[in-house]
Amino acid sequence: MMEPRPAPPLQDVDNQELENLLSSLPKERGIIPSYSYQYQGFWYSPITLQGIINCQKYFQPRENDIFLVTSPKSGTTWLKAILFALVNREAHPPQDPHHPLLSKTPHQLVPFLEFLHPSEYDSLCNSSDSSSRIFATHISLGTLPKAITGDSGSLNCKIVYLCRDIKDTFVSLFHFGNNKKTSPISLEDAFNLYCKGISSAGPIWDQILGYWKESQKNQHKVLFMRYEEMKDEPYLQLRRLANFLGIPFSQEEESSGLVDQIISICSFESMTKVDVNKTGTFVDGFNNSSFFRKGVVGDWKNCLTADMASRLDQITEEKFRGSGLSL
Ligand code: A3P
Repeated sequence: MMEPRPAPPLQDVDNQELENLLSSLPKERGIIPSYSYQYQGFWYSPITLQGIINCQKYFQPRENDIFLVTSPKSGTTWLKAILFALVNREAHPPQDPHHPLLSKTPHQLVPFLEFLHPSEYDSLCNSSDSSSRIFATHISLGTLPKAITGDSGSLNCKIVYLCRDIKDTFVSLFHFGNNKKTSPISLEDAFNLYCKGISSAGPIWDQILGYWKESQKNQHKVLFMRYEEMKDEPYLQLRRLANFLGIPFSQEEESSGLVDQIISICSFESMTKVDVNKTGTFVDGFNNSSFFRKGVVGDWKNCLTADMASRLDQITEEKFRGSGLSL
């Protein structure tokens, strides 16, 4: 059982506190934000850091909270939609013409923990069970609030970790960053920063490895998923996810075609037809539509030179050597 912690009085991290923290941290040009700061071994934008400090101080998990963790551009938006549709399938059957995914973005339904104000943690209402919430985050395992990871490293909540081929993830990030056009970066500069590990929530390899190792130690608490497997065998992966979350599909659900209906409402083709995903902005000036580009496996071939691809492969191989993980 989780130890209930007394809730500290709510207070946003103040500007001076953030300024003091930022001035004490290593700083580099970022791929997406103008500058990234290295905090507890990982690179984050100032706005993300503010959210991290807030949740480290104030977040109070519930035992049945679900956390979706990813590196940016690994398919977060897709898995947010799938998790929402899966967890809420009774209250919102996927064929409901008023399904929330048809009027809200996956980011509205499953927000990022680090972009929430502390006063919003409890008002989150994205699960049919009022005591269960779904959050997403890019925060590394070691930087997650101790209230989630537990003081002894025994996780208090379930974590679904999604990763993607590093080359595709980088290419997706590069296009995403340059979508905004306020601070364009060349492919070469972005690539060099990425290889040095300087990208949002990077080094990506270290972030993946942290959760990979935890998933090996703690299979009931961390489910390790891959974008490519979701693409290849969505039915199987969705069942795996439902089983892990303790909400397996019943015989009736399977035979009624419910699994396929969830896959369908969350598919790239369906989601890109939804008005709210085509218009409006997310945070920091990004358009909702910029979270949907091609949604395919292997697009790196259209962007990276053979040298760039082999450099990323080589780093990945070196970083993951001995871990049992390959991407
Ligand atoms: P591409 O840029 O390669 O197309 P994130 O959600 O983590 O920001 O990741 C965005 C990537 O996921 C983008 O990849 C985007 O097109 C892809 N994506 C978004 N929705 C998807 C879906 N329903 N199915 C498959 N891929 C999707």
